[in-house]
Amino acid sequence: MGPPWVPTRTKDIDELLDDARLAPGQSFIELGCGDGRLLAAARRRGAQATGYEINPVMWLVATVRNLRYYPRVRVRLGNFWRRDLSGADVVMAFLVPRFMRRLEMKAKAEIKPGARLVSYIYALPAKRPKHQGRHWFVYKY
Ligand SMILES: C[S@@+](CC[C@H](N)C(=O)[O-])C[C@H]1O[C@@H](n2cnc3c(N)ncnc32)[C@H](O)[C@@H]1O
Repeated sequence: MGPPWVPTRTKDIDELLDDARLAPGQSFIELGCGDGRLLAAARRRGAQATGYEINPVMWLVATVRNLRYYPRVRVRLGNFWRRDLSGADVVMAFLVPRFMRRLEMKAKAEIKPGARLVSYIYALPAKRPKHQGRHWFVYKY
């Protein structure tokens, strides 16, 4: 089973997107987008946002929240481990410790040079963060 839904703190969202240097026109991918608040915040910055969510209830919540912004925001029902990350400028993940090694390997294989990964709460096991925020780690590839 994957990580359950636990939301990123609303007051952290803008700051972590600042730290990730998410800019207008860039591509933002969220692995497990929960209720879709981060996708909405990325869109407000002019980014193209895509979220993957495996829980149908959370997928529906995120979809309804962002429906009027389609196609700037897309919410995909499914397993993010099967999705390619090479198009992203910023990848956001809030997983649990047992998935961090797998996330590190996937990110290393797929995230393009210059793109950033933000991991909320939990650090990757080996890679050094470029920046550490209050509750998040920013990695540059
Ligand atoms: C800790 S919550 C974070 C939610 C959201 N990113 C946020 O920060 O508010 C993790 C989310 O990932 C989803 N999830 C877990 N495993 C997944 C998988 N393999 N594919 C897609 N979504 C997954 C869960 O359903 C849950 O909504």
